[in-house]
Amino acid sequence: MYYWTPDGRQILDGTAGLWCINAGHNRKPIVEAVQRQAATMDYAPPFQVGHPVAFEAATAVANVAPAGMRHVFFVNSGSEAADTAIKMALAYHRARGEPSRRIVIGRERGYHGVNIGGTMAGGIPGNRKVWPAMMAGVDHIRATHDLARNAFSKGQPAHGAEFADELDRLIAFHDASNIAALIVEPMAGSAGVLVPPAGYLEKLAATCRRHGILLIFDEVISGFGRLGSPFAAQYFGITPDILTCAKAINNAAVPLGAVLASDAVHDAIVNGAPEGAIEFLHGYTYSGHPLACAAVLATQKLYAEERLFERAREIAPYWEQALHSLRGARHVIDIRNLGLVGGIELEPRAGAPARRGFEAHVGCFDAGALVRCTADILALSPPLVIEKSQIDQLVETIGAVLQSID
Ligand SMILES: Cc1ncc(COP(=O)(O)O)c(C=O)c1O
Repeated sequence: MYYWTPDGRQILDGTAGLWCINAGHNRKPIVEAVQRQAATMDYAPPFQVGHPVAFEAATAVANVAPAGMRHVFFVNSGSEAADTAIKMALAYHRARGEPSRRIVIGRERGYHGVNIGGTMAGGIPGNRKVWPAMMAGVDHIRATHDLARNAFSKGQPAHGAEFADELDRLIAFHDASNIAALIVEPMAGSAGVLVPPAGYLEKLAATCRRHGILLIFDEVISGFGRLGSPFAAQYFGITPDILTCAKAINNAAVPLGAVLASDAVHDAIVNGAPEGAIEFLHGYTYSGHPLACAAVLATQKLYAEERLFERAREIAPYWEQALHSLRGARHVIDIRNLGLVGGIELEPRAGAPARRGFEAHVGCFDAGALVRCTADILALSPPLVIEKSQIDQLVETIGAVLQSID
């Protein structure tokens, strides 16, 4: 649960690194699995040949995947997963004889990494403005943030299912025959912990189905227990067509991401290719890297043996209560939570947006806790092994720091 600074101070990890160390740091079974693999087979090519560890790791991931999503394509990061998913969606429509379906719809404040597809489908203006035209054919639905109606919601906010109607507006504008996919984080994390309003994701999913638009869930941060289930898809009871993940897939021990595809997406692309041709012209030198896959196997085993997803679910009510005890603390204008995720929104300092959030981040670090800030929103996502006393410590530290900064 801790980092140590070069001068020996202990820092409580309130962010699981970067939403990725779900089993806690330096877990022995994972460390040893990577060491063993490095000494057994350091690398093998993923083109034309394969190796057993990659297949075993894919099976381990498929075993916790939403029903019907047993096809796993390995990449090396969440960004690569997003771009791979987008390419897969376009390849699917082309294979089915609908090549006009090329537009990708994202969401404002969405984050899908920093490669080209993810940048363009993402909805963070600062991340996009330097590269305005690298990927034509994206549009965005509005974000669901609604402080006026939903501030201090516990769990899913009650108001805002109608934000999903935005998708109907874009379908009317572009025509479904031109739209390939909708990509959203089921729970938006990087742009400030935006929990989906009750009924919102269900509406999005139904609209996609109705219009033959693929639904891509970016589960790079929500995958592997963050909400108390393997994926947010199971938590919300919604199965997408394509799902991206990374980070906690192997406790971030070695870089790895994955794209999960439904049978329909897989079969259209793979069975639709001419005999002997490469079905999906996409892949990386390090796809299914043996060290990363060994870490997947050890991590998934650890999650199961220690019942860490259930643990997250069990401790979530304590987490919620502790976080919301900061209601009324200085500068706090909203607190939101879901599973083991928390967002604390601070009132921006007049004329200096994001400054207060950054000072809170630095103040917490100085006081012994790692807390992330996105502008003036503090984002929390501790390892799933956090103890109640550590939750208390985290919340007390934040409260004290907020009291001390202007
Ligand atoms: C939802 C989401 N998608 C994609 C990414 C990009 O992942 P990576 O930094 O591994 O490329 C992130 C990273 O935080 C993320 O939160």
